[in-house]
Amino acid sequence: MFEFGMNCVLRALFLAVVTTVPITAQEVGCFDTATSPFDKNDWSYCQKIPSDDYNIFLYYTPLEDTVLLGFHALDNTEGWTALGINGNGGMKGATFIIVREEGGEWIAEDRHAMDYVMPTLDDQQDVRLLFAKQENGQTAWGVAIPQNSCDSEGNDYEIQDRTITMLWAVGTSHAFETHTARGQFQVNLMQAPKELPSTDELPYFEILMPNVTVKMGEGGTDPTNPYICSYHDLAEIGPLSGFAPEETIHVTRLSAVLSPATKANVHHMILYACSSDDFSYEGKKHLTVIPECVSMPGDCREMKWPWAVGGRDSVFPENVGLPIGGAMHRFLVLQVHYYNPTLKEGMKDNSGVRVYFTTDLLEQEAGVMEFVGGVNSFQQLPLPAGKKSVSISFSTPSECTKNVWDRPLNILGVLHHMHRYGTYMEISVVRDGVNLGNLRPESHYDFKHQSMDEPVPAIRQLLPGDQITQTCVYDTTNAPGDFVEFGDTTQQEMCYTPIYYYPRQAYADSFGAMIPWLNSSWCAEPATSEDFQSSNLSLCAQTMYENVPLFYHFDTEVESAFDLLTACNGGDTFQALFDEMPDLCPPCQVAANCTHEEVAFHAQDLCASLCNEVTGLSLYPDMNRTKPYEYGNWGCSPSYYYEPNAPEASVCRAKGNSSIDAIEVNDIVLPKIPKDTPAEVSLESSANTQAVVVAACTFGVGTALFLSIM
Ligand SMILES: *[C@@H]1O[C@H](CO)[C@@H](O)[C@H](O)[C@H]1NC(C)=O
Ligand SMILES: *[C@@H]1O[C@H](CO)[C@@H](O)[C@H](O)[C@H]1NC(C)=O
Ligand SMILES: *[C@@H]1O[C@H](CO)[C@@H](O)[C@H](O)[C@H]1NC(C)=O
Ligand SMILES: *[C@@H]1O[C@H](CO)[C@@H](O)[C@H](O)[C@H]1NC(C)=O
Ligand SMILES: *[C@@H]1O[C@H](CO)[C@@H](O)[C@H](O)[C@H]1NC(C)=O
Ligand SMILES: *[C@@H]1O[C@H](CO)[C@@H](O)[C@H](O)[C@H]1NC(C)=O
Repeated sequence: MFEFGMNCVLRALFLAVVTTVPITAQEVGCFDTATSPFDKNDWSYCQKIPSDDYNIFLYYTPLEDTVLLGFHALDNTEGWTALGINGNGGMKGATFIIVREEGGEWIAEDRHAMDYVMPTLDDQQDVRLLFAKQENGQTAWGVAIPQNSCDSEGNDYEIQDRTITMLWAVGTSHAFETHTARGQFQVNLMQAPKELPSTDELPYFEILMPNVTVKMGEGGTDPTNPYICSYHDLAEIGPLSGFAPEETIHVTRLSAVLSPATKANVHHMILYACSSDDFSYEGKKHLTVIPECVSMPGDCREMKWPWAVGGRDSVFPENVGLPIGGAMHRFLVLQVHYYNPTLKEGMKDNSGVRVYFTTDLLEQEAGVMEFVGGVNSFQQLPLPAGKKSVSISFSTPSECTKNVWDRPLNILGVLHHMHRYGTYMEISVVRDGVNLGNLRPESHYDFKHQSMDEPVPAIRQLLPGDQITQTCVYDTTNAPGDFVEFGDTTQQEMCYTPIYYYPRQAYADSFGAMIPWLNSSWCAEPATSEDFQSSNLSLCAQTMYENVPLFYHFDTEVESAFDLLTACNGGDTFQALFDEMPDLCPPCQVAANCTHEEVAFHAQDLCASLCNEVTGLSLYPDMNRTKPYEYGNWGCSPSYYYEPNAPEASVCRAKGNSSIDAIEVNDIVLPKIPKDTPAEVSLESSANTQAVVVAACTFGVGTALFLSIM
């Protein structure tokens, strides 16, 4: 028998059945009767947590609206231990269950972390300790948490039927201080652990960093976080791996390959495809390295595979393949974010990804679609600096997705991408007038943890007709200057979400914000120069007439200012312009004998349709429509529109209650038991099992029952 400080806990059942057997680390498995206080009858599932130094097991039981979590570390634990849940794998935005001893009593605490700092205690405590013990370096405990606590400050994640990233951490003492070890793993707490299919006999090739030195490159700003990229040419890889240089292949599975020497330093990896539309091959060869690559590699933006520490293999559903190669994607770029907190020198890395593929193309292709709240200054106006919270939001209306998508999109994964000022992102989906909520919950965005996560069960598909709103929130308190612009560099910002889905759809499956390029006061106001005023023309017509490059935002360094009459009567000199914009001049352009009046009235006509389409305004002197459009979206037609109605998201409905005293464990239903229940009460269950309460202990946050199950 173990000895414990607490008389109450002493009587708990599991202690009675546990025998002390020396543990030989490697051989231990789940539910090992010799070592585990966790019994198959009480706990539905078990998963070994991957760790080099610790033998840790997660036990879990999804009940109707509560989840039981069990933690069992077989060695090296002498202080507090913790499990965490997060929307991205990092500590930022994670919720933690800390189990430790305080004043001779075991307690379980509900905490959360908004940054890489000590997690703070939630105001609303939603965890109940079922049992805890620690001896000879072994720690075991069980807790109950509600599936949805509706934490008043939004600190908890709803436990749903989806794979999530969980964290573990152990400390050396029971005072809750810095951890001595930590890690992350993936699990679906509502399902049995899934075995990945075998990879035997699957052809593959590897895309690996070419033994790069792990060191921040020139132009970098943070030596503890180097980002390095390498180019990979499928025309070189193909012939060695069983496919032709320009052949499209279907990727069926992607698996991280970590160099043994540097695996602790590889923080995240992203495989990008370069689109040959933009990509210039000049100077870029197979295995060329970009030593400083914190921004997305230019021209190579299509994310094919994001991986973060603890991430399992990405396995596509049967009959679904991710196409790569072919004429479109000859080059791939592997970006690796290394974490080197001790600035260790001389490390060489050749980590990367193993790509399993088939040349027998599968029935369905996976695709990547995007919601782009802004990646450059044409899409979003700069954010004001010095603000704790600045939010931008952009919608894709129902009519638009109805036109663009021809069938449902099955969502495989969702990635959030902002830069260093980003604090929160949300993609909300409204279907048939009902707000289904957030596609992927992540309570705090973390630039250092950009993971691909499964969507919530309520939105496993996006449907034609869904109205989708992307919101990005930034904290610009520490931004230098007056504004933060949208752009590629990490000093600039982005609001960007690629979504992995199948089956791939043929047409425009990217949506993005646009700033209306036409100044709405040009549409609504009369001309200022007398010439135009006397004809009752708009400021729009006058502006276009007087300075064509300024009006159309041509690059004025290339095209110096010229007026429309000069252009229309300019003949061959302006031929390139007429090729681009065949309607710019009235028919008199052919004979180059246009008059001022003809061109001015033509400008007014052009403005009438531009104002209507781009700003939503009628053109002066018609003042019928005076409210400008609020939204532009390049994936939609028409591209500009008023903000769609967004019904409120439904109010959070709590599921489960960690402080209730009645729980159901497998087939044993435990009725509500008053706190002063004497031990050894017998409880009948629906099946012929019996449970005896051997102890009912009151802790800070509720009552724990210790049962003997027969
Ligand atoms: C990197 O080093 C490994 C092991 O020494 C070697 O097998 C591999 O060919 C090297 N890769 C490159 C691109 O040099
Ligand atoms: C729009 O045009 C008006 C009149 O030319 C000008 O005063 C104003 O600055 C312009 N606004 C923008 C945003 O360019
Ligand atoms: C300009 O048009 C408006 C609206 O049609 C009209 O009220 C006004 O009299 C016109 N002005 C001139 C100078 O023609
Ligand atoms: C311009 O030239 C065309 C073709 O020569 C002619 O038909 C037209 O009448 C001319 N217009 C003016 C305003 O001179
Ligand atoms: C503006 O509104 C008036 C009254 O509703 C209507 O008669 C007129 O045709 C409208 N003008 C345009 C250009 O739509
Ligand atoms: C949980 O149960 C306790 C005691 O039965 C009750 O006081 C509390 O309001 C419940 N909380 C929720 C969120 O239902």
